[in-house]
Amino acid sequence: MDKQLRNPFVISGYVSSEYFCDRVEESKELTVAMLNARNMALISPRRMGKTGLIEHCFNNDEIRREFNAFFVDIYATGNLKEFVFIFGKQIFEAGKSKGAKFLDKFFNVVSSLRPAFKLDPVTGAPTFEIGIGDIEQPEYSLEQIFAWLESSDKPCIVAIDEFQQITKYPEKNIEAILRTYIQRCKNTTFVFAGSQRHMMQNIFFSASRPFYQSVSLLYLEAIAPDEYVSFVQRHFQKAGKTISKEVICRIYDIFEGHTWYLQNIFHRLFNTIEKGEEATLTIADQCLRYTVNSYKKLFQETINLLSERQREMLYAVGKAGKATEITSGAFVNKHALVSSSSAQTAARQLLEKEILTKEDNAYMVYDRFMGLWLSDVYGMGYNL
Ligand SMILES: Nc1ncnc2c1ncn2[C@@H]1O[C@H](COP(=O)(O)OP(=O)(O)OP(=O)(O)O)[C@@H](O)[C@H]1O
Ligand SMILES: [Mg+2]
Repeated sequence: MDKQLRNPFVISGYVSSEYFCDRVEESKELTVAMLNARNMALISPRRMGKTGLIEHCFNNDEIRREFNAFFVDIYATGNLKEFVFIFGKQIFEAGKSKGAKFLDKFFNVVSSLRPAFKLDPVTGAPTFEIGIGDIEQPEYSLEQIFAWLESSDKPCIVAIDEFQQITKYPEKNIEAILRTYIQRCKNTTFVFAGSQRHMMQNIFFSASRPFYQSVSLLYLEAIAPDEYVSFVQRHFQKAGKTISKEVICRIYDIFEGHTWYLQNIFHRLFNTIEKGEEATLTIADQCLRYTVNSYKKLFQETINLLSERQREMLYAVGKAGKATEITSGAFVNKHALVSSSSAQTAARQLLEKEILTKEDNAYMVYDRFMGLWLSDVYGMGYNL
């Protein structure tokens, strides 16, 4: 029996298929790729559901039965050593519950990481801790990890999350090194997930780069409104609470279906009303405002760290909601910006900081709560 949650709208991590909305097609595509040893790249804006989708596929019965699946999040890594450490650690963590036999074999093959293996003096539990400086030859350790994957009892699936991070490593040849190992794998399939679309596309679709055309691509869009409406209604009904399609659609539309923001609002809304009550538009609007305002301090701190030109650009985009042609005379004049070249520079810097994002030539504030807050403070405001 799956775990029952008090609040069915999960806002961090993956729980089970019961609390996971739709993604039927995408799960099928990713699972089929995994079963057929085809490497995939999974791309979407932040918080759309990449990690959740991978976990959901790892939870599939056939995958669980027939594969060893590993999830390696490299967001916090800044060089090859750290990559190797995290990679080794994730395999260790996933396998340690299998006991001494697993650990023996792992450290026999990945001998260079053996110093990281310790037993907790109090509990006796196996742990993996290494000073990053202890990895002397990261390439050699990497080779050993790949050798272990290839010699594993079952075929392996390795999902590397936030893969675009490797482009920020100081090592020049990192893509070529990884590509060489990955290409040689016969027993291991990879999923490369990332949120920076351009960086990810450059890695996999520039003819001059080592990973060129080595994967099939899955671009994760928003969940379709109808699917999300029935998901929300099912969970409200199960708890004896009511919500109309109209209210759900209004919330869906204000976030353009962006998953984490939706989940966040429905999580609060679900908590706000009692059994037997209905979540009306007024209550939903209050929840939304409360949530957006709860981040106010954070937004103000973020804005305080920006230069004046960057701030002006952020306000201009926040006011517009979606802004195109931000270097045009009309836009520069309308928002009293200094010049079109300074507008361009500010926008580029805000994109790099991930404060703005750009889709199909339109700029918008990346954090949708921040976008709403800015439109309230500097623009036309928002209403459900
Ligand atoms: N299909 C889904 N049904 C319900 N909730 C979901 C679904 N997909 C994702 N979520 C929820 O949305 C949030 C964001 O999902 P997730 O962490 O998978 O996004 P992500 O694309 O990996 O984001 P990031 O790029 O920031 O790592 C999570 O809280 C998760 O619980
Ligand atoms: Mg993620």
